[in-house]
Amino acid sequence: MSLSNKKPRTFCVTSGKGGVGKTSFTVNFAIALTKKNYRVLVVDGDMGLANVDVLLRLSVKNNIRDILEAGTSPRQALIFARPKLAVLPGGSGIPEMVSLGGEQQERLGGLINKMAEEFDFVIIDTAAGIGASVLWYNLFCDHNIFVLSPDPTSMTDAYALIKLLSKDHGVHRFNLVINSVRGTKDGVNTVNTIKRVTQRFLDLDLFHFGSIPEDKAVRRAVLNQVPFVEQAPGSKAARTIFSLVERVDQLI
Ligand SMILES: Nc1ncnc2c1ncn2[C@@H]1O[C@H](COP(=O)(O)OP(=O)(O)O)[C@@H](O)[C@H]1O
Ligand SMILES: [Mg+2]
Repeated sequence: MSLSNKKPRTFCVTSGKGGVGKTSFTVNFAIALTKKNYRVLVVDGDMGLANVDVLLRLSVKNNIRDILEAGTSPRQALIFARPKLAVLPGGSGIPEMVSLGGEQQERLGGLINKMAEEFDFVIIDTAAGIGASVLWYNLFCDHNIFVLSPDPTSMTDAYALIKLLSKDHGVHRFNLVINSVRGTKDGVNTVNTIKRVTQRFLDLDLFHFGSIPEDKAVRRAVLNQVPFVEQAPGSKAARTIFSLVERVDQLI
């Protein structure tokens, strides 16, 4: 079913920390959505170290930087990685683009909104850290999806970003995906820890959207540059992604 007459839903995939699975989640969740016939736009918001294109083995000609700085048209930069999956590539090795200036943010927001009209979902993969562009993407989207692992450093960084977004930017709803869990308890304990440490901020609504198991199929798929929901659709990680897509309406 296509929701062509509805406003697209925008998700910001974020975490604070790098290497926790944001890009893997973004790409595989997006592909799983297309298998339900949704049209999905993935924006690679990691403009310093973009790698959505790497996981999908795309050859990038133009990226967000070219659109903002060289006047490339967004259509020229969009890559249809699959019939219903378009990717707007980020840039690589361009530290100054890690944060966008106010005017660039505004233009980028307008461009994404315009492109979004042709899609049911827009998913923005963000960089690590709590820099200006990460904050901006979080505020731009209707929903966030925090990807974190049970690792204490990942929890600490997610906590830092949640705190910043809630205290300084009025964000009160957070969706949590715990990645690389070794059993269901792992995910529940991680969410409980985050809930406990954020309790002192009023009005926080934390929703445990799901937990993705640590799965060798994920690493193997990355090495082959094929998303695991395609390379190993029966793997535990892929089955979890498919079940999350069934519950996409639950995101707060
Ligand atoms: N559920 C998982 N099981 C096993 N390995 C994973 C899992 N999720 C991610 N990884 C591994 O972690 C690496 C980093 O993931 P990535 O999505 O690039 O993180 P981020 O975008 O947050 O920096 C990937 O190359 C992948 O091999
Ligand atoms: Mg990434």
